[in-house]
Amino acid sequence: MPSDLSPIDKAKFVAAKRAARFVEPGMRVGLGTGSTAAWLVRCLGELVRDEGLRFTGVPTSTRTAQLAREEGIKVIGLDEARWLDLTIDGADEFDGDLNLIKGGGGALLQEKIVATASDRMVVIADISKQVEALGAFPLPVEVIPFGWQTTKTLVEESLVGLDVLGRSSTLRMNGEAPFITDEGNYILDLHLHRIANPRQLSLVLNQVPGVVENGLFLDICDHVIVGHGDGRVEVRNINEGIVSTERFDFLEEENLFTDLGD
Ligand code: 5RP
Repeated sequence: MPSDLSPIDKAKFVAAKRAARFVEPGMRVGLGTGSTAAWLVRCLGELVRDEGLRFTGVPTSTRTAQLAREEGIKVIGLDEARWLDLTIDGADEFDGDLNLIKGGGGALLQEKIVATASDRMVVIADISKQVEALGAFPLPVEVIPFGWQTTKTLVEESLVGLDVLGRSSTLRMNGEAPFITDEGNYILDLHLHRIANPRQLSLVLNQVPGVVENGLFLDICDHVIVGHGDGRVEVRNINEGIVSTERFDFLEEENLFTDLGD
């Protein structure tokens, strides 16, 4: 019930609602993970039920797969789809070049594989995810459980000499036990505070034995759809900046978008 939502959930909802318009009949679409991506899946489910939209979803987590099936979306795996038209996903941070930190929900590995296997990646986010420089959000790094404490030490040592403001890391927990990803791995959260050179950092981290993947998504995202708590939603393109601004009016019909011009 959108009118009952908090401003942050309204922002996520309008971004997701706008992003759903990117999905065209017959497309193979990567479905992200997290609270914003969950809004997207619900919006797409509505289009499937109410407007007969037919497309195939490739989920990036077991959570998203379950929700998509509940919403009546046809779901297949990436091995069946092989290549996708589009992936729509949330993010923990995005900068002016549309580089991202992802993995706050622990699904970064499947998310990165699926987004990389897509012609286009569209990120949906509330305005709080926008940053000048990446790194205030702890950078998730997926590591295999074997020898994880050694991997943690090696990861921290690999940061010496890199332009970051912190070098500590913590094992992500789920209550008393380590958080386990869909691939059976652990997550180290790196408290870097500011990442001056994301490209260099990503290369260095992925050289450490035991590291499976890191949560930096560089040169992968093409569009960011930014939602605001008052119902405004901006579509930004990597080449053109802000390409459109619209407003979703929560007091009116749910489907009403007012064009505010470019
Ligand atoms: C999951 C992710 C999410 O996209 C990211 O954490 C944003 O989540 P939310 O939409 O709940 O803020 O990367 O691994």
